[in-house]
Amino acid sequence: MNRLKRIGVLTAGGDCPGLNAVIRAVTKSALEQSDMEVIGIEDGFLGLIENRIHPLTSESVSNILTVGGTILGTNNKSDPRRFAVKVNGAIEYHNVTGRCLDHLAQHRIDALVVIGGDGSMAITSDFIRLGVNCIGVPKTIDNDLYGTDVTFGFATAVSIATDALDRVHTTAASHHRVIVVEVMGRNAGWIALYSGIASGSDVILIPEIPYDINVVSNFVLDRSKRGKRFSIICVAEGARPAGGTQVVSRVDPTSADPVRLGGVGQKVAADIEAMTEIETRAITLGHVQRGGTPVAEDRVLATQFGNEAIELLKAGERGRLVVMKGRTVTHIPLEEAEGKQRLVPTDHPLIRAARHVLTCFG
Ligand code: F6P
Repeated sequence: MNRLKRIGVLTAGGDCPGLNAVIRAVTKSALEQSDMEVIGIEDGFLGLIENRIHPLTSESVSNILTVGGTILGTNNKSDPRRFAVKVNGAIEYHNVTGRCLDHLAQHRIDALVVIGGDGSMAITSDFIRLGVNCIGVPKTIDNDLYGTDVTFGFATAVSIATDALDRVHTTAASHHRVIVVEVMGRNAGWIALYSGIASGSDVILIPEIPYDINVVSNFVLDRSKRGKRFSIICVAEGARPAGGTQVVSRVDPTSADPVRLGGVGQKVAADIEAMTEIETRAITLGHVQRGGTPVAEDRVLATQFGNEAIELLKAGERGRLVVMKGRTVTHIPLEEAEGKQRLVPTDHPLIRAARHVLTCFG
């Protein structure tokens, strides 16, 4: 017999295609398959800090499966353990976790479903240690969450990046240019690896394999000599030259993960143009990769993940992270994923396959 009466759900961190599909699956599964009520918490942990909380019904989650973003809103700056507060014009960081626990108690929320990435799971781990019953659902376009083979949002981001790489081919070939496309992914090269292979990019640069710009330039020149007078380079935002550092676009101290990467594409393009004398352009895809409707694969994964979160709560499980292992949805202790990232192994079969079709990794 299920003893849980009310569950809260929140989406935290960057938005990601498929968040609404999880909210829908959590809400419908809870309302239809058990007698649980579902309470939506607005703007991630910020809504819990500020007590912005409202019930979710079947109506409120209807027609959202295919919609990008999140109907609950999200936030990647509000870590309750280190919440930025302005005191006499200066920023101070306060631990407001107690306020979150009070609001959970006030709304009689028995368990919390947290849909988020590694930063959100670190916060959630602390909630678990404080006795809150939490279930984590892994979200990120970066596909870098430890413990799961795949996160929802990744397939959509890969599909958008692949489409962009396909489209720049025309200009690169017609103008005999090199075009560098910078994709997201933080410290992981998954989006670059998959979209680079899918689009037949000539060069793929990922953070896990520091590049040598001489190798990239010589590769581009060789292609040119062989009559291929253009090259497409897919570079992950976290890529860096051997012995060098990542390019940081901004630092936000109010965020649990303060560093924002960006700009390596411009750097690679400038270096290649200087070394090869071939006209080189760079584009940064940015948040386009997180926008719009999720692809079918992400909708299916998100629905499975959301339903599994409720199945776990119904079964009396606590502190678990829903994960995909192979083709099976299962779960691990949430705290196991804390502080870890799932990077691309340098001996990954996809890297070998790409090298065998003459892709350069710098
Ligand atoms: O984690 C998702 C992600 O899109 C990363 O790929 C990127 O580095 C980061 O978020 C960008 O964050 P923001 O939306 O705060 O600029």
